[in-house]
Amino acid sequence: GSSNGTVKDKMQAVCELLQINLETYDWVGFYMAHESEPTLHLWAQAGEPTDHTVIPFGKGICGQVAVSNQNFVVDDVTAQDNYIACSIYVKSEVVIPMFKNGKNIGQIDIDSNTPKAFDEKDERFLEWVNEQIAAII
Ligand code: SME
Repeated sequence: GSSNGTVKDKMQAVCELLQINLETYDWVGFYMAHESEPTLHLWAQAGEPTDHTVIPFGKGICGQVAVSNQNFVVDDVTAQDNYIACSIYVKSEVVIPMFKNGKNIGQIDIDSNTPKAFDEKDERFLEWVNEQIAAII
């Protein structure tokens, strides 16, 4: 398969493409599961840099998706009690798990400064993006 460096470069390009071209995608990142520890690690991102480069499973929206294996669409981040704020401007968020051979290996995370920015069309699109990445990992 491809080296991790090459995959990270492609993830970085995808983050920038989405963040630059899609109006409501203010922050885009890929958090990937560690091989042996129950933590997510930020492999690529576009938008304001975040301090949250490592997230334990179960913590925040991202950590919950690592455990649930389900899409998580957040219309209003202020209504979430298990939430990690990366920016005071963020109003809504979507996290879509990425699967390889049926295993949850990571996720794409999008933050928006617009409330209720994400719908089923975003979910289907981001599932497709994740499938493309999973295919090269
Ligand atoms: N908001 C996320 C943390 C990652 S930042 O959005 C970049 C969460 O609650 O898990």
